[in-house]
Amino acid sequence: MIIREATNGDIEQWMNLRQQLWPDCSLEDHNLEVATILSSPKDKTLLAVDAAGKIVGFVELSIRSYAEGCESKSVGYVEGMFVTQKNRRKGISQELLQAAEHWALKQGCFEMASDSDITNRISHLSHQKAGFEEVERTIHFKKGPLLEQQLDTWCSGQIESIYKNYLESSQSWRQSGFSGPEERWIACRRPIADCITKSGSFLDIGCANGYLLESVLGWTSEHGIKTEPYGIDISEPLVAATRDRLPEYKESIHLGNGFTWYPKMRFDYVRTELCYVPKDYQKAFLNRLVTLFLKIEGSLLVAEYHSKDDSPTRWESETLNRMGFRVSETKSGIWKQKELTRVSVLPRELNA
Ligand SMILES: C[S@@+](CC[C@H](N)C(=O)[O-])C[C@H]1O[C@@H](n2cnc3c(N)ncnc32)[C@H](O)[C@@H]1O
Repeated sequence: MIIREATNGDIEQWMNLRQQLWPDCSLEDHNLEVATILSSPKDKTLLAVDAAGKIVGFVELSIRSYAEGCESKSVGYVEGMFVTQKNRRKGISQELLQAAEHWALKQGCFEMASDSDITNRISHLSHQKAGFEEVERTIHFKKGPLLEQQLDTWCSGQIESIYKNYLESSQSWRQSGFSGPEERWIACRRPIADCITKSGSFLDIGCANGYLLESVLGWTSEHGIKTEPYGIDISEPLVAATRDRLPEYKESIHLGNGFTWYPKMRFDYVRTELCYVPKDYQKAFLNRLVTLFLKIEGSLLVAEYHSKDDSPTRWESETLNRMGFRVSETKSGIWKQKELTRVSVLPRELNA
């Protein structure tokens, strides 16, 4: 048995074992985590490889600044360990843990730590055999989304005060909350499509009647880019209108609040506006979208519209940098020499 570091060439087999260890983790999240481990100097995966070159086990390691029971501020940590069923009871986990100790020492750590499910007796024995001592038993709690009920109530208030009358108009763009002639719609919304530079999925958070989705589909196809549309909106009648507009994509249109809804997949592009959540929570909102909604190479498109106010003097998007986000580019929508739309592109790789 050889123990060696994982490289890009091992991804397929390593992923296969990861999926056996963590079956509830989505394929996209596995991909994301593997890419992060391979690119981070503080993470390492060691593999157990048999004589035929097959990967039969792995241990994933990191360096944590705190670990229960440890004294130091730099602790080698066993994030996960797995050996295939038919290769168990051959001492492979002990070999992996010993190699893990070498790695941790070489990183300047003098202590290691790990954790295990309270019911996983085999893992407890394997840790003990490798010299780990139990320090404490902990129950982990988590909560998210935060203030869900209050945010839903806030959004219901927004429907009543801002979005309720969208469907009263017969013009598609007015049903999306936009006024003026169609050329003005194109000038103010096309910059969103201009941020889409490759084929893939596009989620419009706050899709209203789906007219933007339909428009973006057309605008991107003019450049040979195939966009797969997804939408979410807090208003039931608007979700129904989007499904009617795009019947072949109706399974991809959801009712929900972008701040509390959990996507079942990740997207190449996600469009949103800051005004969908109270000002104090905008940073958390964008962090959530970057972390939970985007593929590794995905981008968040934060749009800001001033189509009702002809001479905007203050752009909320100027606060993105202050909030700690990194904007790779911005696109403007100009109508009659005035900038009425600004779209800021936040790539996941610069912001996660
Ligand atoms: C101005 S329209 C945007 C229409 C279209 N996406 C566009 O960019 O032109 C805003 C839409 O966002 C929806 N919305 C507002 N807050 C939301 C939230 N927290 N989650 C999901 N949708 C929201 C409203 O119901 C409304 O239909």
